[in-house]
Amino acid sequence: MRVVRVTAFDARAARGKPAACHRMGQLEKDRFRLVAYTTLGHRIDPRIPLSIAWMTLMGLLIVFLLLTPLTSIRLNPYDRLDQIFDHLQVPRENVPKHYEINLKVFLPYRPGVDYGKRNFTFDGFVKIIFRCETPNRKILLHSARQLGFRVQLFDDLGKEISLQDHYHNHSQELLHIQPADLLTAGVDYTLHINYTGGFDNGNFTGIYSAPYRHETEKRWMLATHLQSMDARTLFPCFDIPDAKAKFKATVEHPFGTNAVSNTIETLVVNNGNWTITAFKETPLMSTYLFALCVSDFPYTETHTLKGVRVRVYTEPSKVNDTGTALDIVPRLLDFYEDYFQYEYPLMKLGELI
Ligand SMILES: *[C@@H]1O[C@H](CO)[C@@H](O)[C@H](O)[C@H]1NC(C)=O
Ligand SMILES: *[C@@H]1O[C@H](CO)[C@@H](O)[C@H](O)[C@H]1NC(C)=O
Ligand SMILES: *[C@@H]1O[C@H](CO)[C@@H](O)[C@H](O)[C@H]1NC(C)=O
Ligand SMILES: *[C@@H]1O[C@H](CO)[C@@H](O)[C@H](O)[C@H]1NC(C)=O
Ligand SMILES: *[C@@H]1O[C@H](CO)[C@@H](O)[C@H](O)[C@H]1NC(C)=O
Ligand SMILES: *[C@@H]1O[C@H](CO)[C@@H](O)[C@H](O)[C@H]1NC(C)=O
Repeated sequence: MRVVRVTAFDARAARGKPAACHRMGQLEKDRFRLVAYTTLGHRIDPRIPLSIAWMTLMGLLIVFLLLTPLTSIRLNPYDRLDQIFDHLQVPRENVPKHYEINLKVFLPYRPGVDYGKRNFTFDGFVKIIFRCETPNRKILLHSARQLGFRVQLFDDLGKEISLQDHYHNHSQELLHIQPADLLTAGVDYTLHINYTGGFDNGNFTGIYSAPYRHETEKRWMLATHLQSMDARTLFPCFDIPDAKAKFKATVEHPFGTNAVSNTIETLVVNNGNWTITAFKETPLMSTYLFALCVSDFPYTETHTLKGVRVRVYTEPSKVNDTGTALDIVPRLLDFYEDYFQYEYPLMKLGELI
């Protein structure tokens, strides 16, 4: 016996009695029994020929099938951008492949380090390679808490393509870029965007600064929490989880601090009052997984059996308390690699405690 749930069926037709509430029907040999309750709670039990029940179900199904394509087809992917639900997404006409991110962070990490008006701001430059999937004349990128955009677009031969306009809409958190000509499907284009941003924000979202106390001093670190859609505070991007790409970051940070990101450092050079740290390209991943931390935290270090570098960073006064983490983290990583039969894809693992 199969139980079929029927909604919005008017039992009055069968019995001439007012009926409401939920109704459950049971499919018997050749009859469809509708168990219904009147608004007063009396049970009514009309018997309806099976053919009528089937016709009703088929009717509902046809109505459903007819309505579905009408509501899901969107001829113009931009026509509903003024609605909040739609600008959380961006049209998939352009699909990112690679991001190269350069940041210079003005972090007054300890007393005596002062960048004046530039305190807690950063200069950003991002190079985005994306593929045009459908010919279009509008590139939409997520971007928040950023200003001073300078945008250039190049085709796959490196020829600059002139732009008709570009503007940022704060309430939409979108950077609109309008090339003068139609982009061609199947071509990889490159965007160069210079911008500035800020991280004077104590609410632990996106890119933020967090204070900590060292002896009598108030010191600052920079950190990121980009889940679920705050990568846009760090760099303009297609900030949707399935628009995965590879990321290659370089960070210029105050001398005396270190920078930690998803992948291992490929270069650390000092240049006067600044240090430049470059990171290896990440595997293919979502924007929200990108991470960056700049602080003067010292670290302790060890390696897993397979040679993954494990570092535990912490405040200077707590560096002797990292023993437990340093002992457990590599053993856990070895255990999980074996348990899931899946090799950890990175060369290092950093813990900030
Ligand atoms: C930004 O977008 C909102 C919502 O779509 C719109 O109402 C507003 O006019 C736009 N502002 C600018 C400056 O374009
Ligand atoms: C910049 O930040 C540092 C550290 O918080 C502070 O000592 C300094 O006064 C700030 N400078 C300005 C101009 O606000
Ligand atoms: C944009 O950023 C790049 C990389 O930092 C830099 O070389 C270039 O001079 C910047 N362009 C402008 C106009 O600021
Ligand atoms: C966090 O701080 C930023 C910058 O000050 C602000 O734009 C944003 O609205 C804040 N977010 C929340 C959830 O308070
Ligand atoms: C480095 O910083 C110190 C103190 O903040 C300043 O006196 C000096 O001029 C800076 N050096 C360079 C090369 O900017
Ligand atoms: C950590 O331990 C070393 C060796 O015992 C000691 O010299 C050092 O002062 C300790 N550091 C802190 C911050 O406690």
